[in-house]
Amino acid sequence: MYDQFADDYARHSENSPANRYYDRPAILALAGDVAGQRVLELGCAAGALSEQLVDRGADLHGLDREPRMVQLATDRLGNRARFDVADLGEPLSMVESDSVDLVVASLVLHYLKDWSRPLEELHRCLAPGGSLVMSVHHPAADWEWAGFPEYLTTTQIHDTWRLGDRSVQVSYYRRPLSEVFGQLHNAGFTVDHLVEPRPLPELRDIDPRAFEELNTKPAFLHLRARTA
Ligand SMILES: C[S@@+](CC[C@H](N)C(=O)[O-])C[C@H]1O[C@@H](n2cnc3c(N)ncnc32)[C@H](O)[C@@H]1O
Repeated sequence: MYDQFADDYARHSENSPANRYYDRPAILALAGDVAGQRVLELGCAAGALSEQLVDRGADLHGLDREPRMVQLATDRLGNRARFDVADLGEPLSMVESDSVDLVVASLVLHYLKDWSRPLEELHRCLAPGGSLVMSVHHPAADWEWAGFPEYLTTTQIHDTWRLGDRSVQVSYYRRPLSEVFGQLHNAGFTVDHLVEPRPLPELRDIDPRAFEELNTKPAFLHLRARTA
């Protein structure tokens, strides 16, 4: 999917209200002090969040399914971080067990239908006491967008995004909140922080409409979960 519009997405997400002023700040706040931490970033795309983590001192290993995204992230960070092509639906054979302090998964897990194996795999990668910080589309937002289908069943959504002057097709999964928590619990994670963020205040002057939207309606859900 992203292979067809990697460069367009990279340009768009660099400064888009939802990414720059809403998702990334909330992820960084939940991650806390990452200096010296071994961070595994999932769905790193072109490395915008990766760069912020590295600037804060993280020892970062980024993964993405799309080779073009990995290329863009590598071009951006050079030898300041390591990036690999990897599909989260498969075992992460390039990551040793207990070798990661923090997994960061910003806006990627909703592309996976099944979370059970991937979450088990993340638990394997994390050292004891490690954390997972993640964001997904807010279940209420996708439920409304899809026209209020039967809520308790996980359903696939097909959407059209505007990236600059281009329209692209995307598909992802909406799952109920109980499924989000249940899957984390089953994989051995304890959620210790849930955030429904507000956008950064400076967005009000940059894009008042986007600020109003993100400040009054659920868009993304942010969680921190610890290995039990
Ligand atoms: C919305 S973007 C993430 C944005 C990024 N966190 C940022 O702040 O710029 C989602 C990324 O997840 C990647 N992705 C989607 N499904 C994946 C999978 N199964 N395994 C690995 N990466 C995946 C896509 O290629 C894309 O780069």
